[in-house]
Amino acid sequence: MADNEIKKGLAGVIADETAVSKVNPETNSLLYRGYPVQELAATQPFEAVAYLLWHGELPSAAELAQLRATEREHRALAPEVKDAIDRLPLDSHPMDEVRTAVSVIGAIETAGISNVLDAVGTPEENLRRSLQLFAALPAIVSYGQRRRRGLEAVESRDDLDYAANFLWLTFGEEPGAVVVDAFNRSMILYAEHSFNASTFTARVITSTLSDLYSAVVGAIGALKGPLHGGANEAVMHIFDEIGSADQVEGWLDTALAEKRKIMGFGHRVYKRGDSRVPTMKAALDSLVAHYDRPDVAKLYETLESEFVSRKGIYPNLDYPSGPAYNLIGYDTLTFTPLFVASRITGWTAHILEQQASNALIRPLSAYNGPDERHIEEYEPDT
Ligand code: CMC
Repeated sequence: MADNEIKKGLAGVIADETAVSKVNPETNSLLYRGYPVQELAATQPFEAVAYLLWHGELPSAAELAQLRATEREHRALAPEVKDAIDRLPLDSHPMDEVRTAVSVIGAIETAGISNVLDAVGTPEENLRRSLQLFAALPAIVSYGQRRRRGLEAVESRDDLDYAANFLWLTFGEEPGAVVVDAFNRSMILYAEHSFNASTFTARVITSTLSDLYSAVVGAIGALKGPLHGGANEAVMHIFDEIGSADQVEGWLDTALAEKRKIMGFGHRVYKRGDSRVPTMKAALDSLVAHYDRPDVAKLYETLESEFVSRKGIYPNLDYPSGPAYNLIGYDTLTFTPLFVASRITGWTAHILEQQASNALIRPLSAYNGPDERHIEEYEPDT
């Protein structure tokens, strides 16, 4: 690449090294610390994958038990966090709620630091902060959905592991094994994806020696956009708009004539299909069977085959996860916050990695504004 060549959207630019994950579009594979994500999703609880992302190895039985015990200790929300959420308008977007809650947690956790040079914290502190956010996010996300539905919050259950407790916190009912399994898989699939926009945002903020919470708040902002995490919500809006499989052709004719982007399709890195989709589609199929909703599968498959045959653009992870979260009972606006609850693991693994070998991220720009001019030429009255 010539030194002054502009790579719009940083497409194709290798910005740094990472040991957290490897995306290989040629072999359609995604490895977390060397393990294929499909194998992790089929065999591991999400807590073990979080441990893997943070520490580089899967946990021993004792390490997993320890992580689970700590996760249980940090599930409850501080009154300040609940209060901050309660003060937001009921119709504020759940991503704004989550962003605010993390910001409040950060302000509490870093209170008393009077010198900005100390804001970054030690690796041990940041690992602890990562685990605390991981533990608190299910309560934040669930609290938001219940608040919008006019329901009281429910307390965590110490007898339930992460995924089952998350669903319990949201719905106040003990979830069935099929639902827990599908949800756990979705959490694992969403956990990490190298230098995507939100992770890169977190690394940029971290590179200034700002604190972990600021980096996560920035990442949440980046994830909200529909070209990134917001696509899972947008997929469901599209499903609602189309209604049923027999409407797909006509809907697609109009959407493509209007040059609309079809949410849940396409990817910056994968051009021949997203490696995570088959695993999430299998989870969706299990939910379709569990809830007896073949109409959802029919709409999914019809839109996929029509769009792929017309445009040659394949589904990404948001395509199966949107309808899966809908079947489980999540409000459409809660889908991207679920992505946050998962991606907190990947973000914080990258924040720890960035802190361990930091270089300020500060690219150059090619100026295309006016030539140099001077104030004496400025005439305010003309
Ligand atoms: N619907 C219609 N056309 C599309 C789509 C789509 N979903 N995706 C790409 N294209 C077309 C695009 O219009 C362009 O056509 P042309 O060359 O004629 O202008 C061409 O394909 C290249 O698209 P691009 O937007 O320049 O490609 P990109 O690599 O910058 O974009 C993307 C990747 C994900 C932003 C894009 O595919 C998109 O907007 N998809 C819909 C949103 C979505 O599902 N996002 C989730 C991404 S994966 C999960 C995550 O990271 O959070």
